[in-house]
Amino acid sequence: MSSNDGEIFEWKIIDKRQKSSGDWPDEPQESGNPRFRLGVLVSGSGSNLQALIDAIESKELPGVEIALVVSNNIDAYGLERAHKHSLQSMYLPWKHREESEAKLTTWLQLFHVDLIVLAGWMRILSANFLAQFPRRVINIHPALIPDDGTGSTYTTRDGTTIPVFRGLHAVQQALDAGVKVTGSTVHFVTPEVDAGPVICREEVAIQEGDTEESLHERLKALEHRLIVNAVRKLAS
Ligand code: GRF
Repeated sequence: MSSNDGEIFEWKIIDKRQKSSGDWPDEPQESGNPRFRLGVLVSGSGSNLQALIDAIESKELPGVEIALVVSNNIDAYGLERAHKHSLQSMYLPWKHREESEAKLTTWLQLFHVDLIVLAGWMRILSANFLAQFPRRVINIHPALIPDDGTGSTYTTRDGTTIPVFRGLHAVQQALDAGVKVTGSTVHFVTPEVDAGPVICREEVAIQEGDTEESLHERLKALEHRLIVNAVRKLAS
């Protein structure tokens, strides 16, 4: 494979995803109304992206629009969701972080994105990348994080102290630890994984017999409200 193969593949994929052939996706149109523009990054099913799409379409997020959806995974259902709703969507291979982040930065700037939403985005973003978008990148994490994002414990509403579950498999980590309560958190992204200041958060009781799947499903239902609330808060 030549060093250009990745590029060529990428453009082909973009062709497939866009109505146009071989060019950049349609550039954003200037409108009279200043809008609060989201760039949503997904790696998987994109149910949180869908929650944002639904909230915008049902006018629960006035003045907010999704300018661009990006996925590092060509098979992400989130890309299909974007496509179904005629949103600009881009596949971004993530073989070399520096190169991919440089492209991502260009796209986010080209599309005048005000807020970057990591909605099930499974790649770690570097401190250099984040420094270009201060307080403009948010993430949804399926566990409880303390207000300032740091620390290794969290005190639940009933006064119980539980560990903070960060990184992959946070839902399973909560089950393995035998805690009675977990939750989901929307927070600003900092270079430390799942450790940024909290925007909003909600607790959920773990039920007898819960599996990672059943618990994650309940968490996602609340994430869909949380992410909309977080965007509303930041857009106002
Ligand atoms: C969510 O549970 C979120 O907390 C985590 O990844 C999951 C993404 O789900 N970061 P979806 O792709 O939005 O359905």
